[in-house]
Order: sequence, then structure tokens, then C-alpha cells
Amino acid sequence: MFIFPDSDFPIQRPRRLRKNKNIRDLVRETHLHLEDLIYPVFIQDGKNLKIEIPSMPGIYRFSPDRVIDEIKEARDLGIKAVILFGIPSHKDDMGSDSFSDQGIIQRSLELIKKEVPEMFVITDVCFCEYTSHGHCGVIVNGDVDNDLTLENLKKQVVSHARHGADMVAPSGMMDGMVKAIRQALDEAGFSHIPIMAYSAKYASAFYGPFRDAAESAPAFGDRRTYQMDPSNSREAFKEVYLDILEGADIVMVKPALAYLDVIKMVKESFPVPVAAYNVSGEYSMVKAAEKLGWLDGKRTMVEILYSIKRAGADLILTYFAKEVAKLINKGEIENYF
Ligand code: PBG
Repeated sequence: MFIFPDSDFPIQRPRRLRKNKNIRDLVRETHLHLEDLIYPVFIQDGKNLKIEIPSMPGIYRFSPDRVIDEIKEARDLGIKAVILFGIPSHKDDMGSDSFSDQGIIQRSLELIKKEVPEMFVITDVCFCEYTSHGHCGVIVNGDVDNDLTLENLKKQVVSHARHGADMVAPSGMMDGMVKAIRQALDEAGFSHIPIMAYSAKYASAFYGPFRDAAESAPAFGDRRTYQMDPSNSREAFKEVYLDILEGADIVMVKPALAYLDVIKMVKESFPVPVAAYNVSGEYSMVKAAEKLGWLDGKRTMVEILYSIKRAGADLILTYFAKEVAKLINKGEIENYF
């Protein structure tokens, strides 16, 4: 740490570097680029559907036929990657739609890769949207059974890869999930497909609006036997470390805003790209307060995304992706400071 010499003030006047916009722009330490953004997209069974999610204004569930336009729009804005979440019409206790050739994600992948081949398509790999009980795996004795769930995860990733996924993102917080998935992909001839692991995923109240959007709230209990306790950060180090040993190419911290310290720790500790998930509740809070006239939505959005970047995220999964891409494209984003 640099220590200033004795004669600080009035020699040191930090305000000199804030005098006008030009100098502020020149010394700005953090920038947000289109390449940092991953846009989450919800796809549900059906035809000609575009249904706004009430708690997430501007975010929709699309049927596979309508999602193409949304993805083209994201592409035209310069967004390089999307992550897909599927909402099947058929749910059962194993979540079998998630590994079916006729599954909602499998059909959508084929369509998207055919219509918008230049988009990098990531799939969320989990079961909560697909199971009748809304938990992230197979239930045995009232809790998710880790090792049985791994078997289904293997089927799910191989199926996603066969139907065209460019990268898979396991989000279920099962122990050993990255290793199981890496092995399954390699054995099926997909050793080139990277894994972005939701490594430090906390049991968070900020997922509330997503669970409405994806119909994935657990029917009983909660996710605290698999997602992390929000009070822990050394445990995040362990989770990330294990995932990297198991073969994670990119690690993720989720949520982002209440876990900026964790993002920073991961960035400083490990030589892999760090993703952060700016989750549904973080989006909805801004939209709700904006609607009430309680804060400036755009400035708040920009400040939040820059804070996540500043903490160390290389990639940000965010529902703001399209909105912020428009500001970046107009060259206006840094006018919001
Ligand atoms: C699980 C999953 C969740 C989110 C992404 N993947 C929710 C959960 O654990 O209940 C949350 C995303 C968000 O809140 O935006 N498949």
C-alpha cells in the first residue's frame, strides 16, 4: 500500500481530478463493455407467447418461436451471450423434461442455433424448473439426494450439448457436480464444451422474482441444505476451489450486489474468469423504486453494474443487459456518473 508523504494537504487535492467530465472520464478506473454481458432468457412451452413477468418489468417469458426475435434483438445490440432457462409444460419428480430430446431447452437450442448461429448460447443446468416439487434434484427422505442428482445432471448436460449448447452452467449446488458433468461431457465427445459453475451460490431472498418467472419455488422446505449460508465467505473460497479442481472453466458468485466482497475475494484468489449474477431481486428492486419515483432507475442500474465490475467480475449475468447495451451503444453510459 502506497503511503503519502508527510506534506499531504494542501499539496494533495483529490478534487483536481474531478473538476470536469473530461478529466473524470480520463481517470475512470472501471468500464463496462458489451462483452461483459450475459442476457438471461426465459422460454416456456407454447406458441406465439410473450408474457411479461409482473415483478420484472421489461422481462418476458417467450415460447420458442417468439424467443428468436428477442435473441436477434440482443445480437443486434451487440450482446454476445445468452443463458437459457426453460419452463416445461410437463413437470415430474425427476424433472425429466430437462434431459428429454423433446425438452423445452433442447427444442429451443436447435431453433436458436439455426436462426441466430452467431449467438453464444449457455444453458442453465438444474432441475428446479422441471420438478413437480421445485427442488434442484431427486428427493429422498425429504431432501435432495446428491449422488442420484449427479446421474441426472450428466444426462442433462450431454443432452444440451447434443442439441447445440455452447457452454453449460450448473446451478444446483450439488457436491461433485462439476466433476460429474466434465466426465459426462468428455465421454460423450464434448471435451471442448466449457463449464461455467455457479460455485458460490447463496440461499438468497433475492431470487424471489425469478421463482415466479420460472415457476421454480420449492413446494416444501427451502434450499438451505444445498445453497450457501449468506453469512459465509471462507466457505465460498472452498466451493470455488473445489469447482476449479473438478474442472470449472469459469466460476460464478451469485447473487452479486450483496456479495461484492466474495466477488473480490474470488477474483484475487483464483486465475479463472469470474462471473457474477445480478439476480432477479436486484433488478426488481430498482424497477420498483423507479416506478414509485423513489430513485433514478438508469443511474442506479449503471452504478450497480459498475460496482459489480469494480469488485472484479469479468462477466455479468443481468436482466439489464439490453437496457445497458443501448446506453453503451449510444456512447452515453458514462454520462450517468
Ligand atoms: C436455479 C436458479 C435460480 C436462479 C438461477 N438459477 C434460482 C434458485 O436457486 O431458486 C436465480 C436467478 C435470479 O434470481 O435471477 N435453477
